[in-house]
Amino acid sequence: MLVSARDMLVKAKEGHYAVGQFNINNLEWTKSVLLTAQELQSPVILGVSEGAGKYMTGFTTVAAMVKAMDESLGITVPVALHLDHGTYEGCYKCIKAGFTSIMFDGSHYNIEENVAKTSELVNVSHQLGLSIEAEVGSIGGEEDGVVGMGECADPEECKRIADLGVDMLAAGIGNIHGKYPEGWPGLRFDVLDAIQQKTGTMPLVLHGGTGIPADMIKKAITLGVSKINVNTECQLSFADATRKYVEAGKDLEGKGFDPRKLLAPGAEAIKATVKEKMELFGSVGKA
Ligand code: 13P
Repeated sequence: MLVSARDMLVKAKEGHYAVGQFNINNLEWTKSVLLTAQELQSPVILGVSEGAGKYMTGFTTVAAMVKAMDESLGITVPVALHLDHGTYEGCYKCIKAGFTSIMFDGSHYNIEENVAKTSELVNVSHQLGLSIEAEVGSIGGEEDGVVGMGECADPEECKRIADLGVDMLAAGIGNIHGKYPEGWPGLRFDVLDAIQQKTGTMPLVLHGGTGIPADMIKKAITLGVSKINVNTECQLSFADATRKYVEAGKDLEGKGFDPRKLLAPGAEAIKATVKEKMELFGSVGKA
């Protein structure tokens, strides 16, 4: 069931768990995430970066595929189709394409411009029933060409953006997209705590979910994180399972080269990763 992310995140914040956002890249990714959410009776958010949207030939294709697949598979758990790190133009494209949720990443603008653009997009998306995520302070590292310096968010600025009526707020707290480097000092819980105190009931979003130790994830949830984004970890498990299949020569046995067979171990590996994260985030049975 395609819905906005609003209700699932309000419930998550109240219930002290987090909903996973899993980024999708193609049909296999989408199917694996949807089937796992249904099996575990968990709400889920499908994240689509602008790069992934382009790869899948545009947001209209993505929305059509997700809608049709959700229906064909008989998915009854709440599913939000969400733009990840959207530009101003990208947000409008996704609204038009039929996404149910958008993220406007205005963190690279100065705060006045971030406020002005976010405010406009809040009005537009709410009129149409979509949920909207905003960002303050950038997430470090690189994701699909979006590079962040990893500055921690200013709690006062978080309050200004939260007061615009966004449905969820991503705030930089030392988190990084991709693998965490050797010697990473960990999440800044002092900053997260200060942000939660300023933003109250606002569901907070933790980007860069790949590789954050379980105890840090649990602590972040106690401090108001209600949505956690995972992208790289599914890519790593997909690649690892596919490599093992090929290295074992299975693509050369019988019709092992059939793409439906070749991609199956990777698709199963994505399911296992999504399951592990949903269990850690506490969203199992919360649909
Ligand atoms: P990772 O790739 O580090 O899991 O981050 C995902 C993310 O934050 C998507 O916005």
